[in-house]
Amino acid sequence: MKKITDISLKTYNTFAIDCKAHNMLVLENEDDIVNFVHLKDKYSPFYILAGGSNVLFTSDFEGTILLIRNKGIRVIEENGDNITIEVSAGESWEEFVNYCVKNSYFGVENLAGIPGLVGSSPVQNIGAYGMEVKDTITAVDGYFIDSGKKSTFLHAACGFGYRSSIFKTELKNKFIITSVTFQLSKRESYNLSYTGLKEFIEKNNITPTLSSIQKAVISLRNSKLPDIRKIGSAGSFFKNPVISIEKANALKLQYPDLATFPIDDAYLKVAAGKLIDLAGWKGYRKGDVGVYPQQALVLVNYGNATGSEVVNLYQKIIDDIQLKFGIRLEPEVNIVFNNS
Ligand code: EPU
Repeated sequence: MKKITDISLKTYNTFAIDCKAHNMLVLENEDDIVNFVHLKDKYSPFYILAGGSNVLFTSDFEGTILLIRNKGIRVIEENGDNITIEVSAGESWEEFVNYCVKNSYFGVENLAGIPGLVGSSPVQNIGAYGMEVKDTITAVDGYFIDSGKKSTFLHAACGFGYRSSIFKTELKNKFIITSVTFQLSKRESYNLSYTGLKEFIEKNNITPTLSSIQKAVISLRNSKLPDIRKIGSAGSFFKNPVISIEKANALKLQYPDLATFPIDDAYLKVAAGKLIDLAGWKGYRKGDVGVYPQQALVLVNYGNATGSEVVNLYQKIIDDIQLKFGIRLEPEVNIVFNNS
């Protein structure tokens, strides 16, 4: 297990916040993870970091950052219809999508272009363009940090919800995910339920194949989301809030173009990006912190923004949306306050 002391986290978080960690441990295999579990008291407080693409560091971290970097893709089972693959947590999500597209495995192509590692995909149940990763995950393996016990969470035990799971709630910082098992389909079928993707395919006369869908999704993402190699961000900063249909209907009288997505007979999801946009924040910039001009749900760091500047901005947005629409936005990004 590699140990680095007093390290800048700027290149370890896609928000590119320049803060420091006291220690960093790089866990490259299961032995390293088991070793860390034995030494946990020495390295407490700690924070488990994968690709750093869904995190906001608010200040220097006076503890230990655990970088999960174990690798490997193993086929567990295969028949004419499906394939079951166990993927180590430290594998890149994008590489895994490439692997599935190349091998004609269906089920994660709409999740192309999402930054981060496979081990974090179940944590916030990554989702985009009508797909959520939970629909392909059969199991999540890892270690309980307190007891050192190795455990498997089968799909039903993962508590998956919209941008949520047991690993983001009850087990936050208590369980190190070592691998995720996916079941993918070998039968050709595409998910074009997301209107924006369907329209893009039709408008550009694209014949759906795994690779053409992957490319279409990446084009759509590039048109709305910043290139994290150039502008710091953690993707959508807030979750799309769930409100009652009654409340949405009342709001629509005042804001007829409120964007909503159905959930059930009583509730729907409101596009938080639209609310922030309607409230006039889109393109806002103060110093190096701002609201991305192409997608208001994304907060950005144009260079040297600090974590606390981002905190100030997101809190102002929450207050303003509450005031204007009576809806409380919740961050989707993990906010790391010192020693949390
Ligand atoms: N909208 C605006 N103005 C904006 C942004 C959005 O009017 O500035 C409107 C759009 O026109 C559209 C609606 O809001 O009618 C929804 O926008 P979009 O399709 O961009 O999706 P989103 O709900 O804002 C979600 C995910 C994204 C994911 C996209 C595509 C969340 C929190 N975000 O965004 O995920 O890529 O759908 O499926 O659910 C992420 O989680 O980091 C992420 C990027």
